[in-house]
Amino acid sequence: MAPKLKFQTPTGIHDILPEDQPYFQKIYSVVDEIASYYGFDRIDIPILEDAQLYEKGTGATTDIVEKQMYVLKTKGGDFLALRPEFTPGIARAHIQHGMIALPQPVKLYTTGPLFRYEHPQAGRYRQFHQVDFEVFGEQSPSIDAQIIQIFYAILSELKFSHLIIEVNSIGDYQCRPYYKKVLSGFFRSRQNSLCVDCRRRLKINPLRILDCKEEKCKRVRSQAPQIIDHLCEECKNHFKSLLEFLDEADIPYHLDPYLVRGLDYYTKTVFEVFSDKIAVPQPESGEENQEPVRNALAGGGRYDALVKLYGGKDTPASGAAAGVERIVSLMKQMGTVSLKVQQPKIFLAQLGDLAKKKSLKLMEEFRRANILVAESLGRDSLRSQLGRADKLHVEYTLILGQKEVLENSIVIRKMDTGEQATVSLDKAVEEVKRRLKK
Ligand code: HAM
Repeated sequence: MAPKLKFQTPTGIHDILPEDQPYFQKIYSVVDEIASYYGFDRIDIPILEDAQLYEKGTGATTDIVEKQMYVLKTKGGDFLALRPEFTPGIARAHIQHGMIALPQPVKLYTTGPLFRYEHPQAGRYRQFHQVDFEVFGEQSPSIDAQIIQIFYAILSELKFSHLIIEVNSIGDYQCRPYYKKVLSGFFRSRQNSLCVDCRRRLKINPLRILDCKEEKCKRVRSQAPQIIDHLCEECKNHFKSLLEFLDEADIPYHLDPYLVRGLDYYTKTVFEVFSDKIAVPQPESGEENQEPVRNALAGGGRYDALVKLYGGKDTPASGAAAGVERIVSLMKQMGTVSLKVQQPKIFLAQLGDLAKKKSLKLMEEFRRANILVAESLGRDSLRSQLGRADKLHVEYTLILGQKEVLENSIVIRKMDTGEQATVSLDKAVEEVKRRLKK
């Protein structure tokens, strides 16, 4: 048996291997295209931020900050966090770079790795990637609808057909406090039927109980008062209008009166996107929970108070993010997306040291001419090189032997017929181009 590898990726953290790269590239290319169409500019923010940014924005008592954030103390004594999400960092950048002075709304998007110390299971990793879209400076529900539309479009382009969009409104700082009181009263009288975590949540934020995944808490929740019955006029109108926009845009949705999302900054609209496909856990990934789970592919909502909370001007905002690994795992399962990897049409075989040396220069000439050429510079036998050319199903193999180098020529072999022609080495690129055009 092979000795156990000493170094492995930490629990819940994975390499993205070459065979998975086409999926990531496909997702990012769809995202870039849709972002550009809808007028979003790319922003990249640092992986490390002041830990307080998340304590204040995401919320000190949320699972993300309380249980999942990686915090480190620098040699200078600062507390920095590995970003667990993008929204606080982008709101910080909006203020720091005076984006309030730009024509409104400011539309930004980004992609990249995030870190949460989660209990690893299917679709839940400690390092994962998101695509994230944020809009600042627009309070109209049409923007919430556009954000939902963008995520619907991205996933549709990636051939997800039966998407389930769950929407709700969680009110604002005017109407939510009263609803929280009503909810507290309801759960207090049923405390004994709640899990230990929820009994604690009851004291801090009863809304979190609505998010609990424990069966016993879900049972109690099904009887709980709904926020929709306690929204103020403004929030009610906003929500009604959002649903009208979604209807007009033919975006299917479900109302989920108990959807609250586990982050503190949301106001009014919240939503999550699911697929009817359920990810099958990959045994080789070491996921602890091997049961199939229904994970959200994307989630987001409006957060009108975050920029002000960070000391910026009163700036309404709305956004969402999708989990790239979750999308990849379902894409693999569905197998519906054609991932076009450029295939070489030419193979360059060489014989002898001199030919090897010439090959390097020739490869670069083909690259500049935009012709993809495969090679096996490390191999010496012509037979094994031709075998590789066969496997790659190239149209032509170029053979550069000792004799050809001395005569400054090269052999072009048509692979399906075995027909060969010798041309001048200086004309090799031109000749291949001409033949490929035929
Ligand atoms: P979130 O719901 O925490 O929202 O994450 C968004 C998406 O990231 C999830 O729906 C899921 O697909 C993916 N995700 C989250 N955690 C993990 C994990 N541990 N492993 C794999 N995938 C994961 C946010 O992050 C908000 N910042 C979204 C937002 C943007 N709201 C407004 N603007």
